[in-house]
Parts: sequence; structure tokens; C-alpha cells
Amino acid sequence: MPGEAELRTQVAIIGAGPAGLLLGQLLHREGIDAVILERRSADYVLGRIRAGVLESGTVDLIARAGCDQRLRQEGLPHDGVNLCFGGARHRIDLAGLTGGKQVTVYGQTEVTRDLMEARSAAGARTVYEAAGVHLEGFGSSRPLVHFLKGGIAQTLECDFIAGCDGFHGVCRQSVPERAIETFERVYPFGWLGLLADVPPVNEELIYVNHEDGFALCSMRSMTRSRYYLQCPADEKVEHWSDQRFWEALRARLDPEAAAALTTGPALEKSVARLRSFVAEPLRFGRLFLAGDAAHIVPPTGAKGLNLAASDIRYLSEALVEYFNGGSTAGLDAYSTRALARIWKAERFSWWMTSMLHRFPEVGRFGHKIQLAELEYLVSSEAASASLAENYVGLPY
Ligand code: APR
Ligand code: PHB
Repeated sequence: MPGEAELRTQVAIIGAGPAGLLLGQLLHREGIDAVILERRSADYVLGRIRAGVLESGTVDLIARAGCDQRLRQEGLPHDGVNLCFGGARHRIDLAGLTGGKQVTVYGQTEVTRDLMEARSAAGARTVYEAAGVHLEGFGSSRPLVHFLKGGIAQTLECDFIAGCDGFHGVCRQSVPERAIETFERVYPFGWLGLLADVPPVNEELIYVNHEDGFALCSMRSMTRSRYYLQCPADEKVEHWSDQRFWEALRARLDPEAAAALTTGPALEKSVARLRSFVAEPLRFGRLFLAGDAAHIVPPTGAKGLNLAASDIRYLSEALVEYFNGGSTAGLDAYSTRALARIWKAERFSWWMTSMLHRFPEVGRFGHKIQLAELEYLVSSEAASASLAENYVGLPY
């Protein structure tokens, strides 16, 4: 198009969520050029509150990207998680059952902030508020990405496109329907989340199965708590005053936690729907899907961000192997490799969700089966070890 500004890069990354930013940083460290196109502003991206439990493999990858300094100082290492049912709390010794592995509690928002700061310090190019992103020719050797910035049409020419643009992004939707298969389960409930500057009720997370529904006690720091309640999928946040939330949460906790709960004004409250989703394959010529663009897990296993990171690990290694080693082996294997780990995390997240939530359609029989499963889980070392090895993260 005459007059259209032309840009060129090796990898065009669509989306500046954790997947896109992590990929950008890992490539930059290997001397590979990438441009990130993000539909929203940086402040908007940083305003989204998401999960906050990192597997050690995710921490290692953030370290490889050179962005782990604040994470090492402020992240909270956790050796265990707790399951609460029948009014009693049971601890799963994650470290003891996995040969010393831990998880690190550190908000996704903070991971994003650290990656953004590293990217701007490196002088790498990111176009925020890039509108109307449109992919062309990813089936050929010369893909193009068209977009508008400040009303001006621009074209980014690249060798590869990384679709890191989340579940509602444009990349997966650009693939012809016959070339992609999707697998989905939508759950008949949501999570109402509340963030508050109050000390967490417990040093470790508590996952609760209660007659009234699931609850989760999590945290961002020793002075900031994150709590969730199972709610109807179409619940309106406006129907939940802070007081109603705290009362409902307290009612779902064991007596000791209920007594220890500190309440305070909400900094944020929001409802998220729960969904399991996988797209196959993850490669279409020179377009690769990663993170939420490729799959969604319900948050019960804390796998969303970790799975995005494991995709990026495989994809970044494959791109480095191509640009710096001249081999396409990693790119050719990406989809199969990433999907093998994705389906295991999908299974774990589905299982945790199924065991801990109220499902109206299964009735009292279903609830009894959940309680039997939980009893078995906390009394069998083999069953506890299975939960633990999945929770801390399966090997790559
Ligand atoms: N053009 C450009 N950018 C887009 C477009 C588009 N058409 N559509 C979406 N985006 C951007 C979004 O604004 C968002 O910033 O892509 C980004 C995708 O980021 P995330 O949704 O955070 O997805 P991802 O990076 O894969 O991270 C996965 O985030 O949602 C959680 O549970 C999930 O923890 C997991 C992690
Ligand atoms: C969170 O802290 O937001 C969180 C923790 C664990 C989960 C989900 C969310 O399983």
C-alpha cells in the first residue's frame, strides 16, 4: 500500500501478556529481534488482576529471561497447600512429597511489570494500542502483520508470528476452521475474587470444599490477600458488598481460619468464568500459538500462567535453534511437545475443579463421592504425592 509505514523484524509477537513479554525477553537475550504488538495500553495490561502461584520451572524461565530479581526478593516460597472439607483442614506437604520442590507466590501482575520494565530498559520495540491487527501470509515464507497505530496503517514484515494474544485474540481466529480442532468444557459456575490489604488468613493457601461452594484463600504478600468464592457463572459483582463477601467466606472456612480471618475494604472484586479449552495443533506454517491463545484452564490448579510459560520455553528454544543453529527441528516439534504438557495440566486443573466445587447436577451422591476422594487424598501418601507433583509442576 503506498504511503504505508514498513517495519521488519524476525519474530512478530502479538500480545503483551506474560506469554508475549517472556518470549520477547528470551529472544532478546539470544540476539533475536522481535516486535510486540499489543491492543491495549501498558497501564491497562498492568491493571488486570490474575493468579499468583509460580512453579519452579516458571521461576527458572523468568530467571533465564533476566527478570527474577524482584521475584527472588519479594516472592513467597511455599512448601505446602491445604485442603479444607468437612470443617477440617489437611496439609499437603508439597516439598516433602516431591523431593524438596516448592511453589512461589508472586502475582502475575508483578511478573508482567518486571518483564515490561526489562523490555523497555533493553530498548526493545513494543507497540501498545495497536488496533486492527490482521495477519497475512503465514502459510508462506514471508508473513505480514498489518495494524493501525494512532490511525496510521503500518505493516510489520517478519519470519515468524507468535500468537500470544490470549483467548479472545486474533491469531487463533485467523486460522482456517478446517485446519484447527478445539476441545472445550465450560463449567456451570464462576469465581468471585476479592483483593484486600489485609494479612492472609494462613501462611499457605487453603482450597475449600464446602456445602455452600468452593472457596480459596490465597495472597500476594504478607499484607495483601486474595480470596475467591464459587458463584453462579453470570453473577454480578454489584450484588456483593464487601461485607457479604467476607461473611460468605468465613462461613466456608474451618473454625480456626474463620476466627483468624482479617477483613478490610476490597481493592478489587471481579467475577471470572471457568473454562477448559485446548486448540490443536499449535503451528500453522509460520504462525505459532502459545499461552491463553492456545488453551485455557480453570484456575483451580493455578496452572494458567505456568502453562503459558512452558509453551514459551519450548517456543523460544525452537526459535533460538532456528535462528542461531539453522535447524527447524524444534519448530517442527513445538506443537506436539507443548500439547503433551498442556493436556496433563488440563487434566489436573479439571480434576481439582471437579473435586472441589459444588456441581448442582450431581446432587448429594456427587458430594459424597467428592468427600470420599478428598479423604482418600489426604490419607494416602500415593494420592497426596500425585497432587503434589502436579501442583509443583510436571517435568518439561
Ligand atoms: N491484537 C493485539 N493484542 C491483542 C489482541 C489483538 N487482536 N487480542 C488480545 N491481545 C492482547 C491482550 O490485550 C493481552 O494483553 O494479548 C494479550 C494476551 O495476554 P493474556 O491474556 O495475559 O494471555 P497470556 O500472555 O497467554 O497469559 C496467560 O494470563 O489469563 C492469564 O490465566 C492466564 O495466567 C495465564 C496467563
Ligand atoms: C491466586 O492467588 O490468585 C490464585 C492462587 C491459586 C489458584 C488460583 C488463583 O489456584
